[in-house]
Amino acid sequence: MEKTKILVTGANGQLGRELQILAPAFPELDFLFFDRASLSIADPDAINTFFARERPAYCINCAAYTAVDKAESERDSAFLINADAVGYLATACRNTGARLIHISTDYVFDGNSATPLKEDDATDPINVYGASKLEGERQAIQYHPDGTLIIRTAWVYSEFGNNFVRTMIRLMKERPSINVVSDQVGSPTYAADLAAAILHIITATTPSTPLTPLPPAATKLPFTPGLYHYSNEGRISWYEFALAIRELIGSTCDVHPIPTTQYPTPAKRPHFSLLDKSLIRATYGLVIPEWQPSLVSCIEKIR
Ligand SMILES: NC(=O)c1ccc[n+]([C@@H]2O[C@H](COP(=O)([O-])OP(=O)(O)OC[C@H]3O[C@@H](n4cnc5c(N)ncnc54)[C@H](OP(=O)(O)O)[C@@H]3O)[C@@H](O)[C@H]2O)c1
Repeated sequence: MEKTKILVTGANGQLGRELQILAPAFPELDFLFFDRASLSIADPDAINTFFARERPAYCINCAAYTAVDKAESERDSAFLINADAVGYLATACRNTGARLIHISTDYVFDGNSATPLKEDDATDPINVYGASKLEGERQAIQYHPDGTLIIRTAWVYSEFGNNFVRTMIRLMKERPSINVVSDQVGSPTYAADLAAAILHIITATTPSTPLTPLPPAATKLPFTPGLYHYSNEGRISWYEFALAIRELIGSTCDVHPIPTTQYPTPAKRPHFSLLDKSLIRATYGLVIPEWQPSLVSCIEKIR
């Protein structure tokens, strides 16, 4: 049986590494993992050559400019990687019949909502990173409207890279007390859960003998392009998240709640990041884990 070929860009980031861990459990999928050094999404010639040669059925774009504060002073770099390069990928996917699964962010919203954010809620980014990601969404949909699935996620953490969980564990070991912002609420996303959700969508929508164009008769669930929201279930503040981490690692560090005004950063952060996940659950039959068991899994792996 022909395997479904999947290009994963930005393969050394948090999400890319979790996909690498899950890959062996999906023998029907043929993964091509590429990091920035081996395939830069900001190089349209390299992208076009790659797609023409390999003709993947899917591209999971895990590559991004994610330095939120640095983006304030590196606007061009953020827009090149988060917006224009997404346009290059979408164009290459469209020209070769591939589907694009692209990852975006809750930072496309201003954070002033009082209810969980739905896919069609009005966007209004309050920092450069959010604006660059919103433009990436726009380009992906413009260049490949029928084959792009965008997943907005939030507060991503994993056992890899720089993230809140790893930072808290380090600080709680180094310091007797720390301050953590308590007036920003959302739900964290364990990158391993997001990786599993993406592979669920691919396997649930891919015919057993993948061909281009994909024959609808053999499709298990329809591939429904568009915008979706995904994070773990539940609602917490960063402060409450820090308390949960402290309990799981058995730390005695004092954790103090502070308002955002006492923790100034170059980029403004939205106060409300809670995503409504009903659309992705209903469309793809996803069961989304609560944030607590996922945090336990991640911390066990970090240990
Ligand atoms: N982290 C979060 O809290 C969060 C929240 C909401 C949404 N998201 C979105 O979720 C997705 C995955 O995030 P993540 O946390 O896994 O990000 P990450 O750990 O920062 O990984 C991003 C990867 O992209 C690579 N990259 C940068 N420029 C590239 C280029 N030109 N070509 C190829 N690769 C390139 C980076 O390589 P280098 O390390 O060499 O730069 C890095 O390995 C991103 O779209 C992000 O915007 C993340």
